[in-house]
Amino acid sequence: MSTTVTTPTHVAIVMDGNGRWARARGLPRAAGHRQGAEALRRTITGAGELGIRYLTVFGFSSENWNRPAGEVQDLMGLMRHYLRSEIADLHAKGARLRVIGDRSRFDPDIVALIANAEDLTRGNDKLNLTLAISYGGRDEIVAAARALAADAAAGKLDPKSIDAAALTGRLFTADLPDPDVVIRTSGEKRLSNFLLWQSAYSELVFVDKYWPDFGKSDLEDAVHEFNRRERRYGAVG
Ligand code: FPP
Repeated sequence: MSTTVTTPTHVAIVMDGNGRWARARGLPRAAGHRQGAEALRRTITGAGELGIRYLTVFGFSSENWNRPAGEVQDLMGLMRHYLRSEIADLHAKGARLRVIGDRSRFDPDIVALIANAEDLTRGNDKLNLTLAISYGGRDEIVAAARALAADAAAGKLDPKSIDAAALTGRLFTADLPDPDVVIRTSGEKRLSNFLLWQSAYSELVFVDKYWPDFGKSDLEDAVHEFNRRERRYGAVG
């Protein structure tokens, strides 16, 4: 008897535990983030090999701006490096890059690197990689509600026509399917303001490893876990 494995269309990941990975080795937190970037590289390759079409990763939350200035600088440096060094490879692999979050707090050169990367890869569809950076789920929903309210106030929208689809259409993720699976590493079991609206029916998979140790086999395990779950969307199974 053979069992068919359903590949989730969209996998989203809270990449957690870089700091603890470094501390466990007596290394500075920056070393954990560097290894975290390596894990991201492995995971993107693994997702492509497994046929996952959409991968969204939480790289930096709106709350992460409150970390010590040195760590924020390290993370921004890593992002700069990532956007410069990885983009040609992503493009060659047929990946499209999107960045979701509040760009207004980034240095102008990072804003420009993001815009260039998005423009370069806009025509690709093999893997849709979305980096959530300076991202917060509540802020995203508030901005969407505000946009709908502004249209209603301007007489462009009948408030009675506002439904879930209308709000979905105003999110950063308007052109992405909802995640089938949300993975969080490091043993923490929270969403921490990640894709709050979009994960209403996602399967949550918690992995006991720190993010720098994550790789393709962990992604495969999550796909198998997803296959073991029965998704009912509130209906009877
Ligand atoms: C969580 O670990 C991780 C982050 C806040 C940053 C994630 C960044 C990377 C994976 C680097 C590569 C990313 C990009 C977009 C280039 P933590 O620092 O909260 O770890 P801790 O909870 O153990 O302290």
